[in-house]
Amino acid sequence: MVAIDVLATLALAYLVRIAGAAFSSTGFTVILNDIYYFVPPDVITTIPMAKILSTTASSGGFIPLTAITTSVPGFSTSDLSTVISKFSATDDVFQDGFLEAISPGQICSSNLGNSNMIVISPEAQISTVLPPGPYFVTPGGAVHQAYRLYSDFEGAFSESVISNPQGLFSVLPAGIVGQSLAVAVPSRLYYTKTAEKPLSGVRLGVKDIYDIAGLRTSNGNRAWYWFYPPANVTATPVQHLIDSGAVVVGKMITSQFANGETATADWVDYHEPFNPRGDGYQDTSSSSSGPGAGEGAYPWLDITLGSDTGGSIRGPSQAQGLFGNRPSHGLVSLAHVMPLAPELDTSGFLTRNPVLWTEAAKALYKENITITSSYPSTILTYGFPTSADSVADGLILDFLANLTDFLHANVTAFNFTTAWAADNPSAPPINTLLNITYPLLISKEQIRLVRDPFYADYAAAHDGRRPFIDPAPLIRWSFGDNSSETIEDAIANKTEFMSWFNSTILVPDTETCSSSLLLYVGSTAGTVYRNVYRSAPSVPYGFSSGRISVFSEAPDFVIPIGQAPYNSTITQHVEYLPVTIDFMAAKGCDGMLFSLVEDLLKVGIVQVSQTGMSSVNGGEILFKKR
Ligand SMILES: *[C@@H]1O[C@H](CO)[C@@H](O)[C@H](O)[C@H]1NC(C)=O
Ligand SMILES: *[C@@H]1O[C@H](CO)[C@@H](O)[C@H](O)[C@H]1NC(C)=O
Ligand SMILES: *[C@@H]1O[C@H](CO)[C@@H](O)[C@H](O)[C@H]1NC(C)=O
Ligand SMILES: *[C@@H]1O[C@H](CO)[C@@H](O)[C@H](O)[C@H]1NC(C)=O
Ligand SMILES: *[C@@H]1O[C@H](CO)[C@@H](O)[C@H](O)[C@H]1NC(C)=O
Ligand SMILES: *[C@@H]1O[C@H](CO)[C@@H](O)[C@H](O)[C@H]1NC(C)=O
Ligand SMILES: *[C@@H]1O[C@H](CO)[C@@H](O)[C@H](O)[C@H]1NC(C)=O
Ligand SMILES: *[C@@H]1O[C@H](CO)[C@@H](O)[C@H](O)[C@H]1NC(C)=O
Ligand SMILES: *[C@@H]1O[C@H](CO)[C@@H](O)[C@H](O)[C@H]1NC(C)=O
Ligand SMILES: *[C@@H]1O[C@H](CO)[C@@H](O)[C@H](O)[C@H]1NC(C)=O
Repeated sequence: MVAIDVLATLALAYLVRIAGAAFSSTGFTVILNDIYYFVPPDVITTIPMAKILSTTASSGGFIPLTAITTSVPGFSTSDLSTVISKFSATDDVFQDGFLEAISPGQICSSNLGNSNMIVISPEAQISTVLPPGPYFVTPGGAVHQAYRLYSDFEGAFSESVISNPQGLFSVLPAGIVGQSLAVAVPSRLYYTKTAEKPLSGVRLGVKDIYDIAGLRTSNGNRAWYWFYPPANVTATPVQHLIDSGAVVVGKMITSQFANGETATADWVDYHEPFNPRGDGYQDTSSSSSGPGAGEGAYPWLDITLGSDTGGSIRGPSQAQGLFGNRPSHGLVSLAHVMPLAPELDTSGFLTRNPVLWTEAAKALYKENITITSSYPSTILTYGFPTSADSVADGLILDFLANLTDFLHANVTAFNFTTAWAADNPSAPPINTLLNITYPLLISKEQIRLVRDPFYADYAAAHDGRRPFIDPAPLIRWSFGDNSSETIEDAIANKTEFMSWFNSTILVPDTETCSSSLLLYVGSTAGTVYRNVYRSAPSVPYGFSSGRISVFSEAPDFVIPIGQAPYNSTITQHVEYLPVTIDFMAAKGCDGMLFSLVEDLLKVGIVQVSQTGMSSVNGGEILFKKR
């Protein structure tokens, strides 16, 4: 009983032929047992259909088919059910609808009755081009891959994409119910992890400040999206992930020009995505908002690539209860990525699974990472609670006790203000030295590298006009325009802090990489409702825990440790939001941190994050029935 249907408009592409016109198929959408699929136009291979095809419930010329590779000569019905259960357990694209209507042909084992399945023996050369899994085949034997379509109901994507067999990207020409983009994911069964392709089939979402050849980049600005042509080069970090086998499924929402924006009024050009946690109406944090929301909401999305200048990976990881890494500055190339301030910009991941995180990091950092598993036995804490006065504080203290146990470590409460003053008696207080360092660098650098060229290009094409810019980047750029201090002044202050930090606080260590671990509190289930009227955005002055890694260039990793309750003003009910801790180590010790988090997972001190309403228990996202 296969229910399959081709959308009429797309089917037209099959019927029309215009001599001399530039005309090509962009693929098809079909529905199989109520599930939407995208059928790319590319033919993967052709199989002899004369014998295979008998009576079929085909539609629009497509027949669902399953390929199975086996070395067992007498492949039996029970072998078949073993394979099918494995397919169902590991792949969300495969379903029983792919198992109907055709009887096996010449290259197939033939004693399995009526099912649209080909069993491919390893001797048949076809197995190299046709890995096991679900396919759509035409009566002529043309085999197409099967992509399942999902709704981006949280609005996390800016554009969904598809790549052809040559690896060229284009916009996905498909839509489904959900009042938002459809995202297409290929069957997981097509991919086998190898040493060369450790990320084979890993579904990746990319923040829309990274160029991907063939696609436009928006940087969160509508005028920019339409003004410049599609990118002709793929950003280096994205290319490294693709080379390792990752499958890019879409570009994801960023706040404008990667500046900080809070829902809702700041988000004028694009709407902020929805945070799936708790009542579903909390701010996602920014600027990697799409990567955070998508990774928290969608089980079909494995990992997302964000960027962090002043907290843009860490904030969304904290708000959505995800693992997120701000790498040591300079270890991950940022070629063909929009800059905020090159002295501070970094490229890293947001993900639910620490094992995948490490695997993906090896592909991202390449020669710049060494995974090491000798750990520091000193822990410095900054701004930690001293007693369990709330659920979040209790979780933080329990976690610290567990970590201390695991590392056989000593813990020392650390205070930047007093330590800086003690070590640098003739210098100004730390929050004076670094008060304007961040806003000065990001504004003056982005003015020079992004704003001024954009304004000039746009004015030249539009009779002197200015493009629309959201309030948050504008207020920051105004600060840069009006400040008499220079980029060099800011770098001098940053260097003064960094020299002290890397010789006194987190010092390189030959055995454990870093003299200590430095921990600070990431999130404590605090609310930031998106339906609140706020004051205008302001210049991000000041020194805080989130700025330590920014100025010291040290790695800063968000680790989700649990969740805590709050009374929601939306649902009038108790809901839960994530609790997270940030881990820091000396610059260059990213590999030690990845290894430590994996080891904490192995002993059960940290857990894989879940998608849905709760990062701990999963559960349906409120207002969305799956
Ligand atoms: C690629 O795009 C850049 C920026 O738009 C442009 O300067 C360059 O000429 C393009 N290169 C090619 C080969 O099209
Ligand atoms: C490794 O670091 C060097 C120095 O910063 C940089 O030039 C190179 O691009 C980095 N490699 C990767 C894979 O990003
Ligand atoms: C550090 O010490 C100062 C001065 O005693 C105090 O005001 C501040 O709250 C402390 N900060 C943290 C994070 O403990
Ligand atoms: C922890 O502190 C105790 C007492 O100060 C000291 O004896 C011990 O050596 C320290 N251990 C580590 C691992 O630093
Ligand atoms: C930081 O700069 C702002 C703007 O000049 C000022 O209002 C604030 O008092 C400064 N804070 C410190 C600690 O210097
Ligand atoms: C650098 O630090 C000095 C204090 O030593 C401060 O007056 C100045 O505003 C700072 N400038 C920047 C750009 O950080
Ligand atoms: C800053 O400079 C801009 C011009 O770039 C000007 O329009 C604005 O009024 C100035 N703002 C302040 C607070 O001085
Ligand atoms: C410490 O920071 C200073 C100032 O940025 C830098 O020159 C030096 O190389 C750093 N040392 C280490 C070990 O990272
Ligand atoms: C929710 O509100 C009730 C009633 O005011 C209060 O007793 C309870 O402690 C609150 N729960 C949380 C998690 O804040
Ligand atoms: C962590 O610590 C808590 C309380 O101290 C304990 O109940 C729990 O078993 C520990 N968990 C792990 C995984 O060690």
